[in-house]
Amino acid sequence: MEKISVDVGYKNYYVVLGSNILDELENFLKGKKYSDKALIISDTNVFPLYGEKISEVFKKAGYTPLNHVVQAGESAKCLDVANDIYTKAISEKLDRKSLIVALGGGVVGDLAGFIASTFLRGVPFIQIPTTLLAAVDSSVGGKVGINHPLGKNLIGAFYQPDAVFIDVTFLKSLPEREVRTGFGEIVKYGIIGDENFVSYLEANSAKILDIDEDIYIKIISKSVRAKADVVMKDEKEGDLRRILNFGHTVGHAVEKETNFKKYNHGEAVAIGIVAAMKIGEILKLTDSEDTLRIENLLKSLNLPIRAEGVTIEGINAAMKNDKKAINGKIYFVLPNKIGRVIIETVEDNVVEEAVKYIIN
Ligand SMILES: NC(=O)c1ccc[n+]([C@@H]2O[C@H](COP(=O)([O-])OP(=O)(O)OC[C@H]3O[C@@H](n4cnc5c(N)ncnc54)[C@H](O)[C@@H]3O)[C@@H](O)[C@H]2O)c1
Ligand SMILES: [Zn+2]
Repeated sequence: MEKISVDVGYKNYYVVLGSNILDELENFLKGKKYSDKALIISDTNVFPLYGEKISEVFKKAGYTPLNHVVQAGESAKCLDVANDIYTKAISEKLDRKSLIVALGGGVVGDLAGFIASTFLRGVPFIQIPTTLLAAVDSSVGGKVGINHPLGKNLIGAFYQPDAVFIDVTFLKSLPEREVRTGFGEIVKYGIIGDENFVSYLEANSAKILDIDEDIYIKIISKSVRAKADVVMKDEKEGDLRRILNFGHTVGHAVEKETNFKKYNHGEAVAIGIVAAMKIGEILKLTDSEDTLRIENLLKSLNLPIRAEGVTIEGINAAMKNDKKAINGKIYFVLPNKIGRVIIETVEDNVVEEAVKYIIN
């Protein structure tokens, strides 16, 4: 079992990571003075698998667990669903010390965190991520939020949890595609900060897709530390935190252009990573071998490296509308070498050449 400390200055909490770590959750709950009732938010896939197990831990620790199960999928991250949860919280008389628990993937984590950040102006919150993406990305860093019909993640807050519990045994029930999507982000952490991690992923890619517990603990630990490091230095996305957007500028555009249907987030990020590598290559920050190396790694993880069903014009328009564009200028996170990135604006013709490359 590992405990990774996340310290954002005004708050310090642990990410507890390991296999069969529910005793740790029980001890944590016993040590806290939350109100009796805790609200577990989960979805229709996850709650039947782990809801009972988690509820038992709460009972053993002396709490009364309530639950609210939302329909699995991105559509749960909306104001209507949030409103149902507020209604439940108010009718159950939850108070300022009632704990909100996110049991699920990034959708449940973002939604539950948003509820926690707004209900009674903020109640305590813990995350129990059950997807690889949530374990390595969304559960760490404190971004919570919901979607608006006009765009994703437009309504939200920065709200740090009291703790995060990642039990890798929960990942075994994940469909293969959900495992892969986590690897889009994991490869990103290697490229932005740690070449050895890239080599480790290359050496272990065959075992990775089998969900070997020890390898998973290592990979998640590295990823959580990488994200926590950045978030600790820059919680609210000044300059440094933007390096976490590596691969996301083109990635988001690909997701949007394919109506969030053809590619899931990690798959689109994989394609975006290739585009960013190509821009690095065109600008002579890196060379073609680096691009190929990353493409091969992504391929070995069964991730796509080219986009289908998109056009250059569509990708360009989507990038210009991205909420991270400032005054219409797009900043790219680019590799300086594998393991190090810089942030630059890039001429349109260079972007276009890279986009052409990934839609071929
Ligand atoms: N807050 C952040 O910093 C941040 C970062 C990245 C992504 N996100 C958000 O995260 C969301 C995507 O998260 P996700 O990929 O985890 O999607 P998700 O929560 O929809 O989970 C993917 C699917 O896997 C199912 N599932 C979850 N755990 C399972 C398990 N253990 N076994 C079997 N099935 C399981 C879910 O029911 C769902 O169908 C997006 O809404 C995205 O905006 C947030
Ligand atoms: Zn991402």
